[in-house]
Amino acid sequence: MTFELSEEQLAVREAAREFAQKELKPGVIDRDIKMVYPTDQVKAMGELGFLGMMVSPEYGGGGMDTLSYVLAIEELSKVDNSCSVIMSVNNSLVCWGIETYGTEAQRLKYLTKLATGEWIGAFCLSEPEAGSDATSQATTAIDHGDHYVLNGTKNWITNGSTSKLHLVIAQSNPELGHKGINAFIVEADSEGVAIGAKEDKLGIRSSDTTTIMYTDVKVPKENRIGPEGFGFKFAMKVLTGGRIGIAAQALGILGGAYELSVDYAHQRAAFGKPISKHQAIAFKLADMSVDIEASKLLVYRAAWMKDNNMDYVSSSSMAKLFASGAAMRHTVEAVQIHGGYGFVKEYHVERLMRDAKITQIYEGTSEIQKMVISRNLLKGQLNVPDMKSTMENV
Ligand code: CAA
Repeated sequence: MTFELSEEQLAVREAAREFAQKELKPGVIDRDIKMVYPTDQVKAMGELGFLGMMVSPEYGGGGMDTLSYVLAIEELSKVDNSCSVIMSVNNSLVCWGIETYGTEAQRLKYLTKLATGEWIGAFCLSEPEAGSDATSQATTAIDHGDHYVLNGTKNWITNGSTSKLHLVIAQSNPELGHKGINAFIVEADSEGVAIGAKEDKLGIRSSDTTTIMYTDVKVPKENRIGPEGFGFKFAMKVLTGGRIGIAAQALGILGGAYELSVDYAHQRAAFGKPISKHQAIAFKLADMSVDIEASKLLVYRAAWMKDNNMDYVSSSSMAKLFASGAAMRHTVEAVQIHGGYGFVKEYHVERLMRDAKITQIYEGTSEIQKMVISRNLLKGQLNVPDMKSTMENV
């Protein structure tokens, strides 16, 4: 078993770190306060290849593995989680979904634009009455021969007003339950698409989260993804990969809070010595470092399993569940370490604490991850490779 990253993976991590520290950090506090979308930063992310990292080069992407993508998300998330969620949705939900399950015509028409950041994509599953219970889709897509007609409302859509392409999940035949659900590529400027106001959120405030309304939107049949009735499974498969990206985001938040806390604890003195020398603070840092390492093992392993074509359903849920919980717990402690300074925006940790919360909610709440893990466990399919099969795949 080896825990070493390749030269290429190390280079990706370094490039992402440099970009985050030099290009994202200046202005991140202001964008968060004013809820300003990071237009220039997203453009730069496209130019640097961060928006289509795993897409094959023939469609304009970087052709990288999931672990490289995870390392990049982690570095960006130490600094700016609005940028990292935009990156995560575009890469692991939208690009990966179209490349893996779309037709060649869909890949050529759309993936080339999405992989370079010319277009940003959105994943439209959640509804006012269908969040965790994703099969209860009220949005309908009725078959009219050569096209479907789409009607309904989607909620909490990341990249809602800035995306040019929506992956929309909708019910075409309610009698069939989840087997009647389809997934579609919908161009955002189609007639009948209306975008709601940007949500005023606790965290990831500069990212663009909106409601989207579809009224009698005509969707050509060639824009359906996969065979009739594949939409729910498509959503689940895409989210299984997406959860690795959000787990990496949580890991990055945790790492960012840790780095800031270590620096601060060295600089700040109390009772005649740096606070890092007080056990009350040193033990908090020790706890943080243990959970960072544990999160890394879970997140990197889930990415590795995906790259090695193994069943990573439970592993991705475990990584997200653990890393998001650790990010939430330890960002609260990072604020505590900073004392009064932690409570003001200038010191960054209060923003990371606010950003951490969403990692326990989106792409499946922590409770949903426990549902996925326990169901697999009870089926006798924990999906965790034992040492022997791991060694065989190394
Ligand atoms: N991969 C492939 N197929 C899967 C699957 C997976 N990971 N999970 C379930 N399925 C299949 C099942 O095998 C089943 O198929 P069959 O009937 O053919 O056997 C079918 O899907 C239905 O599965 P369930 O019976 O398990 O369905 P359920 O109603 O009990 O729900 C759930 C399962 C896991 C709770 C699911 O509803 C879920 O994941 N909910 C959370 C939704 C979610 O994550 N939303 C996030 C919104 S997107 C977002 O946040 C993006 C963003 O902007 C940041």
